[in-house]
Amino acid sequence: MKHFDVIVIGGGPGGYIAAIRAAQLGFNTACIDEWKNTDGKPALGGTCTNIGCIPSKALLQSSEHYEHAGKHFADHGIEVKGLGLHLDKMLARKDQVVKQNNDGIQFLFKKNKVSFFHGRGSFVKAADVGYEIKVAGAAEETISGKHVIVATGSNARALPGAPFDEENILSNDGALRIQGVPKKLGLIGSGVIGLEMGSVWRRLGSEVTVLEALPTFLGAVDEQIAREAKKAFDKQGLKIELGVKVGEVAAGKKGVSVAWTNANGEAQTLDVDKLIVSIGRVPNTNGLNPDAVGLKLDERGAVLVDDECRTNLPNVWAVGDVVRGPMLAHKAEEEGVAVAERIAGQHGHVNFNTIPWVIYTSPEIAWVGQTEQQLKAAGVKYKAGTFPFMANGRARALGDTTGMVKFLAQAETDEILGVHIVGPMASELISEAVVAMEFRASAEDIARICHAHPSLSEATKEAALAVDKRTLNF
Ligand code: FAD
Ligand code: NAI
Repeated sequence: MKHFDVIVIGGGPGGYIAAIRAAQLGFNTACIDEWKNTDGKPALGGTCTNIGCIPSKALLQSSEHYEHAGKHFADHGIEVKGLGLHLDKMLARKDQVVKQNNDGIQFLFKKNKVSFFHGRGSFVKAADVGYEIKVAGAAEETISGKHVIVATGSNARALPGAPFDEENILSNDGALRIQGVPKKLGLIGSGVIGLEMGSVWRRLGSEVTVLEALPTFLGAVDEQIAREAKKAFDKQGLKIELGVKVGEVAAGKKGVSVAWTNANGEAQTLDVDKLIVSIGRVPNTNGLNPDAVGLKLDERGAVLVDDECRTNLPNVWAVGDVVRGPMLAHKAEEEGVAVAERIAGQHGHVNFNTIPWVIYTSPEIAWVGQTEQQLKAAGVKYKAGTFPFMANGRARALGDTTGMVKFLAQAETDEILGVHIVGPMASELISEAVVAMEFRASAEDIARICHAHPSLSEATKEAALAVDKRTLNF
């Protein structure tokens, strides 16, 4: 039986990064992942690479180009005649982007001497040193490892009574490979996937209706930012119904019919060609056989871990979507690195207060730290400063002046407690705020730093100045 210092189960961002870091630290490391391409070959990278972050961003980019060419190039004096959509080509490009990432991870495993096993990993029993893990792939073998890192990710949650068929009722998987633009598209849930996938298909020509159970739009987002984003989505024609109760969902040859009740309690029906259900994700331990070794799960089915990703078993760790905390690729990666470093006796650390969130719609929405409503609820004294992109020269030149940057700083110390952005390139701009918060900077620190002109980042500096009520350009 082959023996390893570290066995990682799962090759998504949590698992593959943990494996690379463990190998860098000198451990003899194996990573087991079961994801298959259509040709049966390995497709490393997990949900993120195969049916998550990467393909969704590829389609968001392509669909945005299409929308710009059709609707916004004319503002720049560019006439486009005979604009056409080749959806098959767009989807093939997305698949190519995914494959480049799959292959990139295989290359990184070779470079770092991580032994890769293609198949499903499951616990067999505690071994003399560590644990025995069965790998069930094309062939079956059992390997053992002193440390095991579980990084088995998550799966889409289905509506009760309406399982995914990926034909009519789609999870994020089917939503990324619809073969023709649906005339009418329904989405259940106006969370991150609902907004990103709704945006893709609206830009490509679908009439999109999103049904959301909560009465407030993007409840986790700063209210002022969420309001601004909602205005932009309304203007684009993304129809979002809040406070709904979804009833029976019936899929047939002609599409899907959804019975629902609106916020006033009135019964409604939504008939669509395709329905995407994006109501959150559930931790995945299918096939892991946690009972064989007594690995404890919580009531949601997530692997139970402490703040440092230790499970109830010695030398068994778990990271990423399969444990508590936000289901984000970069959170999974940070946990993977920290665990490998802890195994090496180092002080791996993940700062949960500075994990950024980004929604890659147009406008993009990005934030780090606390929202204004959270600070109010906690009774924290704070100062707020905002700066609109409308007053930013680069945003005007780009032709996208939607939104703002908002700073929240502690009233007495001026320490930055949260930064919230809705607008162009928010995904990139948020990094400055993350760095600032990691270094426990004050709003004044950002206000005093020289930012390139003309750049969108000047809006960040100006929002920091606004905390002290001294913007220069607004
Ligand atoms: P996963 O990526 O789910 O990887 C788990 C891997 O383990 C999979 O390959 C699975 O096949 C394998 N596996 C499971 N069980 C076993 C087993 N027993 N044996 C062997 N292999 C096994 N996050 C962001 O930060 N930014 C984004 O833009 C973003 N966009 C997203 C878009 C969509 C549509 C979706 C669905 C998610 C998105 N996410 C995004 C979330 C992100 O994909 C996840 O947070 C991330 O993939 C979690 O990484 P992970 O390693 O924990 O799990
Ligand atoms: P989500 O948690 O973001 O949103 C789910 C939404 O569905 C919520 O607004 C919820 O109130 C609503 N909902 C739940 N049950 C409902 C019901 N029965 N009827 C109507 N509405 C209902 O989950 P989503 O969009 O499925 O995404 C899952 C996770 O994947 C995200 O939370 C995020 O962690 C990750 N992700 C991250 C992305 C990013 O970082 N850009 C992109 C896409 C996904």
